[in-house]
Amino acid sequence: MCGITGYIGEGESASILSTGLKNLEYRGYDSAGIALVGDQVDVHKQEGTIDGLTIPRDVDATHGIGHTRWSTHGEPTDENAHPHTDCRGDVAVVHNGIISNYTELKEELAGHIFESETDTEVIPHLIENEIARGADLRAAVTRVLDHLEGSFAIAATHVDHDGIVAARQDSPLVIGHGDDGMYLGSDVTAFVEYTRQVSYLEDGDVAHLSEDGITIFNDGKRVEREIQTVDWDASAAGKAGHDHYMHKEIHEQPHALRQAISGRIDELSGKASLDIDLDDEFLESIDNIQIVACGTSYHAGLYAKELIEPLVDVTVRVDLASEYEVYDGYDTQNTLVVAVTQSGETADTLSAIRRAKAPGMTTLAVTNTVGSTITREVDDSLFIKAGPEIGVAATKTFVSQVTALALFATYIGRLRGTLSADEGADILENIRKLPNAVQSVLDAEPQIERLAERYVDSDAFFFIGRGLAQPVALESALKLKEISYAHAEGFAAGELKHGPLALVTENTPVLAFLNESASPDETFNNVKEVESRGAPVICLSSTSEDASFCDHSIDVPNLGRLGPLVSNVAMQLFAYHVANEMERPIDKPRNLAKSVTVE
Ligand code: F6R
Repeated sequence: MCGITGYIGEGESASILSTGLKNLEYRGYDSAGIALVGDQVDVHKQEGTIDGLTIPRDVDATHGIGHTRWSTHGEPTDENAHPHTDCRGDVAVVHNGIISNYTELKEELAGHIFESETDTEVIPHLIENEIARGADLRAAVTRVLDHLEGSFAIAATHVDHDGIVAARQDSPLVIGHGDDGMYLGSDVTAFVEYTRQVSYLEDGDVAHLSEDGITIFNDGKRVEREIQTVDWDASAAGKAGHDHYMHKEIHEQPHALRQAISGRIDELSGKASLDIDLDDEFLESIDNIQIVACGTSYHAGLYAKELIEPLVDVTVRVDLASEYEVYDGYDTQNTLVVAVTQSGETADTLSAIRRAKAPGMTTLAVTNTVGSTITREVDDSLFIKAGPEIGVAATKTFVSQVTALALFATYIGRLRGTLSADEGADILENIRKLPNAVQSVLDAEPQIERLAERYVDSDAFFFIGRGLAQPVALESALKLKEISYAHAEGFAAGELKHGPLALVTENTPVLAFLNESASPDETFNNVKEVESRGAPVICLSSTSEDASFCDHSIDVPNLGRLGPLVSNVAMQLFAYHVANEMERPIDKPRNLAKSVTVE
């Protein structure tokens, strides 16, 4: 949702904070601001992206906090931008999340001067009251937390009090331990240029970052949080010569896949080895898997269902996390609940996992983010190892999620004896070939770019596929709509004739997935249905036979059950080039943020 930065130390606060905000911009870009604290609190904030924010370099500040916003309460305006201050301008606060009882708190703060429509603004005024009662900044923030309901991460400063006080409740905050000072961020990206030594705050933690170091309290008691070294450096978070992060991340997929697969395949025995601790006996005993996820991760879950059910004798249900309910009488003992989430911070997914845990179900996270909230709440985590993804549209993490889930399917299939050694070896061989297959599609970028140029002005785009290719059709449509704002929809190919066919005209290209593992003959009948209505058809296929019947054909290697996943990469490029032709802000689509930490 929003991004928080903080710094205290010998370095130049203004420049460190603005680098942090730039790095966190993918979390929100409606407005940005910083508060620099020295002899006074200097607040600079405004609507729009961080590029538009003028931050003076000559302020003599010892520390400061910053924020990049994705609006929830109140429109993106200068007034609603963070940091927010108290009546005297002594306290400055940045906040990520939602204070659900802010209306009541605002009423209790009658007499205070409010300047914004945000829920956040109650916090500096509550701190102001506590400081007036004699509390120091840490005590003031701790007392204020007792009044706040909702989910939040906050950072606060006061002109007369040393340092920054940060607190988290259901919203991420990470501390960076540098040589020249202490850093604060909503995630590691905020300060990875400066330090890779990090500790993750836990719910209820109140951290005081001062010139003497850091002290953390939880429930009134002093606690220590382990210092870990993150295994990627600043260059992994840069654009490396690409115009957009999304383009870079699409091209990083062969590498990301090698990381996801590395050390996890034993083709000889047809077994996958996964670095998870879930008990084999439990995995052998389960009857159900429930997958909960949102957006692109939900599509990865749908793909996983198509992979797991034929290989393992379990029923797989895939739920949008925001719709997930556990009903009475559900078999909680023999069910594994799998949360698929790139960030590990999505509020809807976290809330679904909490609902699953309440009656005692075993939970597993499939995630990219070590140290994320979900990893601390589930019984076990399977990491997809895709490296940092900055572009708001998920690309490499989708492909890596599906790959990790394919390994998981092979692992439990072999464990339960539902998958023979030969079948297991076949799947693993295709997984091993994935990075090169993806590279061959990336090499076809000039052809895909030409198709994007040709069809950019279409009225709408429809993606059709069956079985394993149906989630890929949904994902391809989501990618195109979120970054280009074009009307795009994905359909189960057989459903076209039951309604959506009415939308098809000569100005609505249809992109058809004819992968061999996804009932190509049946989908081909649907291609003919749309062709006879005049729609141009772009096929994704591994047989040249199909090519002659389609208006255009993109060659995709035949990779068994993973073929549609490779087709998805071609559609990422298609979406990218359509959006690029339209000159859209590809890495920061309107109204969206990378990590959605509100329900
Ligand atoms: C779309 C996209 C979103 C996310 C969704 C879940 O490109 O990125 O749909 O997939 O917000 O996010 P995670 O995977 O972090 O839980």
